[in-house]
Amino acid sequence: MLSASDQQALLNWYDEHQRDLPWRATDDPWAILLSEVLLQQTQVARGLVYWQRMVEAFPTVASMAQAPVDAVLKAWEGAGYYSRARRLHALSQRVVLPAIEGGFDGRLPSSYDALLSLPGIGPYTAAAVASIAFGQPVACVDGNIRRVMARQTAQPAPAPTDVQTWADGSLHAERPGDWNQALMELGATVCTPKRVRCEQCPVAPSCAGRSTPERYPLPKRQRIKSVVMTAIVDHDVQGRPLLHQRPSAGLFGGLWGPEYLEGRVQRGEKYLHAGVVKHQLSHRSMTVDVLVGVSPVASDGVERAAVATSTLDEKVLALATRALEASMSNDEDKRRSYEKKEVGDGAEV
Ligand code: ADE
Repeated sequence: MLSASDQQALLNWYDEHQRDLPWRATDDPWAILLSEVLLQQTQVARGLVYWQRMVEAFPTVASMAQAPVDAVLKAWEGAGYYSRARRLHALSQRVVLPAIEGGFDGRLPSSYDALLSLPGIGPYTAAAVASIAFGQPVACVDGNIRRVMARQTAQPAPAPTDVQTWADGSLHAERPGDWNQALMELGATVCTPKRVRCEQCPVAPSCAGRSTPERYPLPKRQRIKSVVMTAIVDHDVQGRPLLHQRPSAGLFGGLWGPEYLEGRVQRGEKYLHAGVVKHQLSHRSMTVDVLVGVSPVASDGVERAAVATSTLDEKVLALATRALEASMSNDEDKRRSYEKKEVGDGAEV
């Protein structure tokens, strides 16, 4: 538990050193909720870009509720973890329902429990929004706060309930939103996983892990699965790729992309091997062989800008397009030199 003087020291430090982040300059609960949903699995620098985009595209909860889910996915494009975008859309539609139909009459609820009942809102986001946007005295726990707690109490592997108990007991009830953000800020900028800056830490004097911070917490063993796949990219006569919308459950749900087959697949002469794309997801290391069809197969390709695609598919499609263009210009060169030769040969005869 942090003492009253630790609390004051941390809040003073936060008041002086907090990063200038736009969601800290607003009291609009919707804008704050968007930031917290985005920051669940995205670093602040990237989160900034997407937050700006989302706030511009959907300035109110009603504006998102009225939009098709595909528009939300398009604005979210590139941010990853696309189920968050789909759940956010479901959340907006639930919030705009009348209270008698289980909604909230268009206003985000302010209590932890009501927030927790919304699609996509877990304990962390409910506590963050309740405290930051509505001043409710609830403590949140994220990876940064867990690390601060593990070091403060010198525990290599604190159980989730122990971290929550510590956070609840340490909460500054008069400034809960600032308090939660101060702890997260400390974890993000000072009490970092590596190169810990204990000399800058306002609560170092009470820190039990201070002499060996790198021991706490122990890294969680992450199993990263290696996956090999083949992407088959076909085009229509206008050179637009044939894309399919993926089912909403599963990887890249609701996004558009080419066909993928498991493993390395051969497709004969009608396809050229464009190259290999490597892409890292949180628990998967993807190696994708890209095969591109050399002749058009249909007329119903998709305008890339009109649909949302994952970053992996962006890479796959860019590689496919480059390979196809190179093969066509090679063919063109071959054709021209062949024609020249024929002309030349003809002239000589
Ligand atoms: N990570 C998630 N939300 C945050 C916030 N409001 N401040 C700092 N880091 C965060």
